[in-house]
Amino acid sequence: MTYCTLEQAVACLNQNHLVGIPAETVYGLAANAYNICAVKKIFHLKGRPAANPLIVHGYAQSNLQDVATFTPLATQLASAFWPGPLTLVLERSRHCPVAMCVSAGLSTVAVRVPAHPVLRALLQQLSYPLAAPSANPSGRISPTCSMHVRYAFPDLPVLEGGRCEKGLESTVVDARFKVPRILRLGSITQEDIAEISGRCDVHQTDTNVTGTTDSDHLENKTTKILSPGQYFRHYAPLKPLRLHAQHVKADEGLLAFGASMLCGAKKVYNLSVKGCLQEAAHNLFDGLHTLDTMTQVHGIAVMPIPHKGLGCVMNERLMRAAEK
Ligand code: TXA
Ligand code: MG
Repeated sequence: MTYCTLEQAVACLNQNHLVGIPAETVYGLAANAYNICAVKKIFHLKGRPAANPLIVHGYAQSNLQDVATFTPLATQLASAFWPGPLTLVLERSRHCPVAMCVSAGLSTVAVRVPAHPVLRALLQQLSYPLAAPSANPSGRISPTCSMHVRYAFPDLPVLEGGRCEKGLESTVVDARFKVPRILRLGSITQEDIAEISGRCDVHQTDTNVTGTTDSDHLENKTTKILSPGQYFRHYAPLKPLRLHAQHVKADEGLLAFGASMLCGAKKVYNLSVKGCLQEAAHNLFDGLHTLDTMTQVHGIAVMPIPHKGLGCVMNERLMRAAEK
């Protein structure tokens, strides 16, 4: 990997090359969202299934107005959470200039206005928004520092932005109708959104592929797959991951949470000694990366994480990471 300056990042993107970018959530693998060749490079480098759509990042809502059709709900959520870790799934606008492969065959497009100052400085200098998934090979652990990106993609130019503040991806919300529906849990919780919109539903991926019969979402009945990314295995370390650990095996590393730790681990990464969920979320992917790359560790045991707020999001990521 070569670190690049802001000017070099702009030049690379203008030539339809890929650049690693920092976000407040996780690092991204970015390309000009309007250019089909540039976007195809993302799918190729990540090994990402063509059926899994990408998020489009803009400097402000006004830069995304000709990309997506903003509903009153979308505008309400955007004013509350942008710039920030919220992604809105909306209908593509009539003459949407975003490459069709970004939407992976759907009539919708996912848009967000990120908060990271380095990424914002970059977006400000571009005449197009950026399509960017997380900068990890498909199915692997998301990167929360530039070293993680380097480990995955040694030849990719990366814009340095320090460690990602949130450490978990953005929350993906279907905002096409009256009631917001979370398609992917993320840094902004269901409670945060419900505070703004009065109600917020969560789409149950595995039980409900064709949409609900709930009258507020009747329009969705024709939409077969709501959030394709949720159907793929994700966030997986190379070593076996064991959740809700009550003991540690001799060859395991321990991903700990809180002050009272399990004894006997060779290596320990504590997500938050003081038991703070925000701090633990910030550290989660770094902890998985760290234990996964330690040669003495042959498996990862994870202590229970309280199932509330950001804890639910972390448990969802860990559950997917542990899937065989
Ligand atoms: O925080 C983030 O969101 C990061 C940073 C780089 O912005 N990006 C990220 O992208 O996590 P990715 O590709 O790893 O995850 C995008 C998720 C996937 O689950 C995808 O299926 C969903 O968003 N998505 C994208 N477009 C969609 C659409 N039109 N309809 C439904 N889901 C969509
Ligand atoms: Mg990802």
